[in-house]
Amino acid sequence: MFYDTESNAHGMAHDPFKAIVAPRPIGWIGTKGRDGSRNLSPYSFFNAVGDRPKMVMFSSSGRKHTLRNAEETGVFTASFVSRGLMQPMNASSAAVAYGADEFDLAGLAAAPARLIDAPYVAQAVAALECRVTKVITLPDVDGNETDSHAVFGQVVGIHIAEDVIRDGRFDLALADPIMRLGYMDYAGIGPIFELERPSVKAG
Ligand SMILES: Cc1cc2nc3c(=O)[nH]c(=O)nc-3n(C[C@H](O)[C@H](O)[C@H](O)COP(=O)(O)O)c2cc1C
Repeated sequence: MFYDTESNAHGMAHDPFKAIVAPRPIGWIGTKGRDGSRNLSPYSFFNAVGDRPKMVMFSSSGRKHTLRNAEETGVFTASFVSRGLMQPMNASSAAVAYGADEFDLAGLAAAPARLIDAPYVAQAVAALECRVTKVITLPDVDGNETDSHAVFGQVVGIHIAEDVIRDGRFDLALADPIMRLGYMDYAGIGPIFELERPSVKAG
């Protein structure tokens, strides 16, 4: 089958786009407002987008509280979502009033970041401390502004729980992430395997 996204006539009960671009890591974004209120929400339009320096991005579909806070304070954290934190992660996605503390709502402890003024999930096995470098309201092909707002951040600090470090590596099997698929679906990771990069012969 084929469908163009202008008509979006896929003929299915739900748009399959997000099921195709999957799995997506979940950035569990922690922020503070200018008023000092704490916020925590999951974002699966999230990924690493550079490593020299380390950069991540999350994208807000509409102007949500996390975007507002990141713009107000210029900082955010991204906590790692392990399988055991799936329920509180989901609870923190509730559409609550601005200023409502999703750490409290989800029964989570908030830890203060070291280098920035933002909270992260104390129970998370890893968390990134980020400074906002750019916020882009994404333009469409005609150059018109959409209501998707991408927030780029430079990772300035990284927390890792000692118990997920094995043989000198961040052990993803121990960290046990859950990832976002399409629809209401999630997945864990399967067996991990190595694949060497191709080497180009000289001459
Ligand atoms: C797993 C998961 C991933 C999500 N990813 C996004 C996303 O990438 N962008 C977005 O705008 N909303 C996303 N949402 C919805 C937000 O978490 C939800 O709208 C939340 O209330 C936003 O909170 P805030 O207004 O405090 O930022 C996601 C929800 C879940 C459960």
